[in-house]
Amino acid sequence: MPKSLRSILCLHDFEAAARRILPRPIYAYVSGAVEDGLSERLNRQAFAQYGFVPNTLVDVSGRSTAITLFGQSYAAPVGIAPMGITALSSYRGDLVLARAAAAAGVPCIMSGSSLIRLEEVMQAAPQTWFQAYLPGQQEQIDALIARVQAAGVETLVLTVDTPVAANRENNVRAGFSTPLRPSASLAWQGLTHPRWLFGTFLRTLLRHGMPHFENNYAQRGAPILSANVLRDFSDRGHLNWEHVAAIRRRWRGPMVIKGILSPRDAALAKQRGMDGIIVSNHGGRQLDGSIASLAALPDIAQAAHGLEIMLDSGVRRGTDVLKALALGARCAFIGRPFNYAAAVGGQAGVAHALRLIIDEVHRDMGLLGVGTVQDIDAQLLRRTG
Ligand code: FNR
Repeated sequence: MPKSLRSILCLHDFEAAARRILPRPIYAYVSGAVEDGLSERLNRQAFAQYGFVPNTLVDVSGRSTAITLFGQSYAAPVGIAPMGITALSSYRGDLVLARAAAAAGVPCIMSGSSLIRLEEVMQAAPQTWFQAYLPGQQEQIDALIARVQAAGVETLVLTVDTPVAANRENNVRAGFSTPLRPSASLAWQGLTHPRWLFGTFLRTLLRHGMPHFENNYAQRGAPILSANVLRDFSDRGHLNWEHVAAIRRRWRGPMVIKGILSPRDAALAKQRGMDGIIVSNHGGRQLDGSIASLAALPDIAQAAHGLEIMLDSGVRRGTDVLKALALGARCAFIGRPFNYAAAVGGQAGVAHALRLIIDEVHRDMGLLGVGTVQDIDAQLLRRTG
């Protein structure tokens, strides 16, 4: 294991290490939440409001973390959540995340707001799920979905908690925007973070040219650094379940809605033929004050019984994963720590992060007295908060 990873003992540890490496605007983008950071805090607090009631003297010597999702076997109930522009915080970030997940046998969702062509990632890691932000016009949606299908994507994730842009004041304060605007302070940030400047940014420029948004539309979008280009944030405010239904009629593989917190939406997702739901408040990055994903989970699991229910937002420990499973999730996705891990150690960093969290799940299952993931249910939890 590289020396830089040896002192990293849990997912929390990646953040401080990444903070030292990343320019301030980029660290701010990854770490940030929205407005007062209320939902981000609620996400963590929600896990603390449940305690375990372990079973003892159960033979857990042969326990397994394996799960099945959409007919596919995975090594553990943990996955990598979609994150935009990861190829800016780590060299070839989307490829690094997808390859590390494939090697560990866990699901990875590639973001549509990414800087590496989807086709390249699918070639490197053919099981990768793809997350789309739907463009505003029906023809653009059709063209994007046709491209995603042609790229060989099986599992399509539609993120629906971004009808309008969130109020990310922290990005403004830190000088982050997409595209990034060249400035003296941005140059200074690059110069004072040489590992990132040479190892990620200049290496990318030299080998692959200026990164562009590659997968928001069927065609290439704006560059990541430009003094005057405007990114096309097409208005998504009018999108509704009819747009989702139209995609459902065409999409043959599993289809997942990400960003649902309401049981009513969960029931609609089931009615509209979705295969799965990711209960999520986007890591506290969209509507500040929206309830924690874990708080929303039990009602959603009930309202959409029969669908694959998954969750993200604030998951950092094996015990968090087990709490989500006990409340009805099949798999827990994690965002920021894997982004930091890629920045700190590339693919080895993400592999280390996956190993840490999977080991925690495995150990905690033993301590909880369960042999398989299917044995985990609400009987093992008490609400203490
Ligand atoms: C995100 N998230 C996100 N979600 C999505 O559907 N598409 C995207 O492009 C992005 N981009 C993105 C970038 C960054 C830097 C972060 C941190 C997050 C949200 C992500 O998928 C997930 O919901 C949260 O990250 C989960 O919360 P934690 O694990 O980061 O607390």
